[in-house]
Amino acid sequence: MALRGKLAIISGSSSGIGAGIAIAFSKEGAKLSLTGRNQKNLEEVVKNCKKAGCQDVLINVGDITQDAFRRTLVESTKKKFGKIDILVNNAGIASMCTLQSATKDVYDTTMAVNLEAPLFLTQLVAPHLIESKGNVINTSTAGTGTIAPGGGIYVMSKVALDTFT
Ligand SMILES: NC(=O)c1ccc[n+]([C@@H]2O[C@H](COP(=O)([O-])OP(=O)(O)OC[C@H]3O[C@@H](n4cnc5c(N)ncnc54)[C@H](OP(=O)(O)O)[C@@H]3O)[C@@H](O)[C@H]2O)c1
Repeated sequence: MALRGKLAIISGSSSGIGAGIAIAFSKEGAKLSLTGRNQKNLEEVVKNCKKAGCQDVLINVGDITQDAFRRTLVESTKKKFGKIDILVNNAGIASMCTLQSATKDVYDTTMAVNLEAPLFLTQLVAPHLIESKGNVINTSTAGTGTIAPGGGIYVMSKVALDTFT
């Protein structure tokens, strides 16, 4: 119960690694503010968190690249729980394209989700983390040392995320 009573915001918690973090944090006694775009998936994750021992879960459905949504996420979390101890910037997309097939749209979307969203969400949460002496966890990739063919833009976004971290 290392996280008993701690409040964690976990972005990208509607599936995959983020859903796994939510369940692991539930077992450690944390309260959760979960977010993603897929409401059905989020509700399924909430059920699994409750089974794992967390009865206090807030969900916010929306696009983490939108400033207004990030503000709603932080404000509603603070309003419900009165504090924020942990921010997990986990939402991410793996865009695969070569130099030849890369488009501005793929570049912009990848950077918006993988880099800008963690940066500006952390900026919003920082005053609350300073108050609670809390922590930020950013989900990067082990693949930043070698670039697989087609993974350039994705890896670039994660290298920049590592620098931010
Ligand atoms: N799986 C791997 O092998 C691997 C390896 C290295 C790093 N990672 C990193 O681990 C993290 C999680 O990946 P995963 O493998 O668990 O993938 P995943 O199952 O596809 O999960 C991605 C999560 O990000 C959310 N998300 C994506 N775009 C979003 C947006 N615009 N607004 C709000 N939420 C958004 C998704 O929510 P919705 O679907 O609800 O929108 C989902 O919850 C990512 O940062 C990824 O880069 C994964």
